[in-house]
Amino acid sequence: MQVRAFPDADAASEATARWVSAWIAENPSGRLGLPTGRTPDALYRHLIQARQEQGLRLHDLQVFGLDEYVGLGPDHPASFGHTLRRSILEPGGIARARLWNGTAPDPEKECRDFDQDLREAGGLDLLVLGIGTNGHVAFNEPECDPAARAHVVELAPSTRDANAAAFGGRWEQVPTQAMTLGIAALMEAHCVVLMALGASKHAALQRALHQPPDAACPASWLQNHPQVTVWADAQALGTAT
Ligand code: GLP
Repeated sequence: MQVRAFPDADAASEATARWVSAWIAENPSGRLGLPTGRTPDALYRHLIQARQEQGLRLHDLQVFGLDEYVGLGPDHPASFGHTLRRSILEPGGIARARLWNGTAPDPEKECRDFDQDLREAGGLDLLVLGIGTNGHVAFNEPECDPAARAHVVELAPSTRDANAAAFGGRWEQVPTQAMTLGIAALMEAHCVVLMALGASKHAALQRALHQPPDAACPASWLQNHPQVTVWADAQALGTAT
């Protein structure tokens, strides 16, 4: 994996946004897999700014959400679909988006339907990922099956705790299950951008970069992907002085 190192989160996000903007300019109808969480917030702000100030065309993109909590509808403020609509889809004028139905009566069927929709669309051209403190990508938790496609996952207590901010800081309010694109589906993306910002990601990023691929650190499977670039700040890389 190629690593692009930056002194701080702002510099990393700005550089990532420049690269993604250039990619979008070359692929205005591209299919993007986009994450939620704090990591991509600044990236999305920069992309919206590029649309407003430089006329970057976002509206022809097709966006796929990577994951969603089981039990949260599209209007729940903590749902990932709501977050993507608010942070990039609506301000970007992006009408074509496949988000997950968190209140689907049969989450496993929703996973199968999502997988089929993604395949029929032609798969992801560009996948943007964050990384969890325990090395998860999307919601593929440690010990997940690397051969899995879209599936329902039990969220690790550390993940529920890490995501509690969107639930008033109360981890017990965070759903226990989620639907996620599996490692096998993520690995089919043509090109991957992995963002890692902040000291809390250092341990996970070190394992993902330098330990042999292992189910204990799902991000490490990305070592087997031919086109992954890591965009990280010094804190995540452990090089901050
Ligand atoms: C969440 C999301 C992931 C995200 C990760 C890190 O669990 N499912 O897509 O990358 O946590 O979130 P953050 O960027 O807020 O650290």
